[in-house]
Amino acid sequence: MAELRNSDSQYYKALVVEESPEGKFISSIRELPLAGLPQGELLIKVKYSGLNYKDALSASGHKGITRRFPHTPGIDAAGIVVESVVPEFAPGDEVIVNGYDLGMNTSGGFAEFIRVPARWAVHRPANLSLKECMIVGTSGFTAASAIYEFMKHGIAPESGKILVTGASGAVGSMAVAMLSTAGYKVVASSGKTDAVEFLKLLGAEEVIDRKDVDDQSGRPLLPGRWVAALDTVGGNTLSTVIRSTADRGIVANCGMIVSDKLEVSVFPFILRAVRLVGIGSAETPMHTRLELWDLIGSRLKFPEMEKIAQCISLEEVPEALSAMLKSAATGKFVVKI
Ligand SMILES: NC(=O)c1ccc[n+]([C@@H]2O[C@H](COP(=O)([O-])OP(=O)(O)OC[C@H]3O[C@@H](n4cnc5c(N)ncnc54)[C@H](OP(=O)(O)O)[C@@H]3O)[C@@H](O)[C@H]2O)c1
Repeated sequence: MAELRNSDSQYYKALVVEESPEGKFISSIRELPLAGLPQGELLIKVKYSGLNYKDALSASGHKGITRRFPHTPGIDAAGIVVESVVPEFAPGDEVIVNGYDLGMNTSGGFAEFIRVPARWAVHRPANLSLKECMIVGTSGFTAASAIYEFMKHGIAPESGKILVTGASGAVGSMAVAMLSTAGYKVVASSGKTDAVEFLKLLGAEEVIDRKDVDDQSGRPLLPGRWVAALDTVGGNTLSTVIRSTADRGIVANCGMIVSDKLEVSVFPFILRAVRLVGIGSAETPMHTRLELWDLIGSRLKFPEMEKIAQCISLEEVPEALSAMLKSAATGKFVVKI
């Protein structure tokens, strides 16, 4: 792989998370040498990034996400190619990078520059601005991955209701908005009473309390309430969702806000032919990645996109990340670099 030649004298601004001798993780804005960025075929000037739960974990020192500190998180970035050594991308191209190792153990999008392998980048999809791409970000891309699975499974708007759990969160709110834009009837489950209006604005037909999807009876099958569900919560919520899915329905799980454990009998699978699919957006193969961004731009782009997003500066990122960790955040934080 050819290497880019950087000027050692150039510096860029980045959010840096460091581990103190007492084992605390502290974030600050630093000037770093461009030459310190990892190797890669594309040097990208970041215009926008977006906040994800994984960033909050990385910034708080979760070693399952980021092993080495100091580190710059930010699993999403959108910007302009400054240097390229591959023919697929030229300086001036608008590109997005989401997933792979960006922001995990590779310096991420909470910075003025990233340097990445060309195979991680996609050209900005038609019909979406760089900012809109980052409003969507990994959370919207994950929501779209689940919707893509529902569509492949033959779930159409007339098939019945679709449940979204953790609906006021980043993935959940994207899923509610995208599903309703595509014509589906959405049931949103949320623990936040003050999020009802927000979820209805995004197109939820019904908002239920998250306790309604936390069954304690232990019954192997519950009345079928939806034909498809996107669960972001895991644990007993996922178990309840599966047991409450109608005949030949589909459940997609992407998260584990409450637990990574799943206790459920096989009855929903063998008596109702319910299908359980896992969503892992980070390593989505390129052909599916392009299809998904195309789907987002053409069928899932929703009019409230700007309303859902709160635009913040790099300096405001640490506070927003800690709100995410406390589950006190609603909607999507977009970082304007
Ligand atoms: N697999 C992938 O590719 C992928 C990609 C992105 C994210 N994820 C995962 O998906 C999950 C959600 O991510 P996110 O970015 O949407 O996080 P988020 O913005 O923090 O939202 C999480 C939501 O979960 C709900 N919640 C919080 N505490 C809860 C509790 N005790 N019981 C039930 N629900 C609770 C809340 O929604 P309500 O108040 O509305 O209930 C909260 O807003 C995370 O586990 C994340 O790691 C996975």
